[in-house]
Amino acid sequence: MTDILIKNGTIVTADKTFQGDIAVTGSKISAVSPKSQVNDPKNTIDATGKYVFPGGIDVHTHFDMPFGGTVTADDFFTGTVAAACGGTTTIIDFAIQSKSGSLKQALDEWHKKADGNAVIDYSFHLAVTSVNDSVLKELDEIVKAGVTSVKLFMAYKGTLMVDEDELLKVLNRAKELGILVMVHAEDGNAIANLTSKLLSEGKTAPFAHALSRPAELEESATARVITLAATAGTPLYIVHLSAKGALGHIRLAQANNQSVYAETCPQYLFLTDGKYNQDGSAEKRWAGAKYVMSPPLRSKENIRALWGGLQDGSISVISSDHCSFNFKGQKELGKSDFTKIPNGISGVETRLALLYSSGVAGKRITINKLVDLFSTTPAKLFGLYPRKGEIREGSDADIVIFDPSKRFSIKAYRLHQNVDYCPYDGYKGQGAVEYVISRGKIIVKPISAAKDNTFVGKKGEGEFLRRVESRE
Ligand code: URP
Ligand code: ZN
Ligand code: ZN
Repeated sequence: MTDILIKNGTIVTADKTFQGDIAVTGSKISAVSPKSQVNDPKNTIDATGKYVFPGGIDVHTHFDMPFGGTVTADDFFTGTVAAACGGTTTIIDFAIQSKSGSLKQALDEWHKKADGNAVIDYSFHLAVTSVNDSVLKELDEIVKAGVTSVKLFMAYKGTLMVDEDELLKVLNRAKELGILVMVHAEDGNAIANLTSKLLSEGKTAPFAHALSRPAELEESATARVITLAATAGTPLYIVHLSAKGALGHIRLAQANNQSVYAETCPQYLFLTDGKYNQDGSAEKRWAGAKYVMSPPLRSKENIRALWGGLQDGSISVISSDHCSFNFKGQKELGKSDFTKIPNGISGVETRLALLYSSGVAGKRITINKLVDLFSTTPAKLFGLYPRKGEIREGSDADIVIFDPSKRFSIKAYRLHQNVDYCPYDGYKGQGAVEYVISRGKIIVKPISAAKDNTFVGKKGEGEFLRRVESRE
């Protein structure tokens, strides 16, 4: 019995584009064929003139995360509703170990946050912030619990940062366990040094955040961790890459056949460091707080380099690093001192529209490359493939129907995320999510001309995904 028949769509995978029909039975794709023979589906969606993509996979979100003296504005309900409305059907969030806590405590805590709230499927990485023998041993249990990737921070000295001795210990242990190590590569010690200097000079406004974290410090940290990963002989995944020099080191390592993967995020492809407003009125300069994130926004030259990295395959994933804080009440914590502005911006809902519009319609990447960066490669790198990340018979029916002709203008109030501004407010583009199907259930659909992208799913229907180690 077919539950949903998607007819006449342009089906896009990471390597093919073809016309066809998709049958969904229960939670799975039951057939993909040029012309379906099914006569009695419960539900038919006419996808003529639309693209049909595998649901997006966003491997970098921070929902309900205590950070910078506050908690991120989106929790697992609002964050996953926003993700779904933006064409994402799976997220992987970070369970953060507290400095004195165990990994299990962190995982239990994040399960409590997500369970009963997430509307799409989810999984976790474990952010390891304190390394000792018991933590290294415990990693074994974490893998058995379905968490096969860890994140380490070379930044945020005094809170999340680990030193390079700790980093190497985790890399060695990751090799034994076959798990993937993700690294936030910035030189936290040098940043702390520069920050003290800037503050002592009275530079407290948001633009000083960017001055405290120059691209060179991302480059040097990236080079060092690549060397450490080579020493350990284990794969490495660099998160939220923003700097051209760092990309150069990644390319060199890849040319030497080292397994180094890189992710970048829309903010580093679409927004420049001009947002930090070094000059102008106090209000204008303060508005730069909306863009305080780490690494900070960079110059046009870095942006061009990142697009080059996507085109030549040296960057293999685009995630959002969705870490939303309200401008009012949260970013304001750093009104008189940029170091107190909570770091992070939203992005889980706008990822596909921006990438399609500027990437595909803007002729920077092909439609297949978009699917690869947005869904297929993340699924492969993080042990979800072929269950997720592909339109094929037997895979989960996580499907996005996308109208490439629709024009859009981003307005914060129209989005579903729970945050009082959008960093892309006013951005005009082309292409919009129309339907989203998550494990066989329609969770986003157009209910009227005025409400063309409406969440119709249910709180708590997202399931935890136990991942297995695989990088097909
Ligand atoms: O500024 C950012 N990126 N906030 C989220 C935490 C992180 O470093 O990924
Ligand atoms: Zn980070
Ligand atoms: Zn992050």
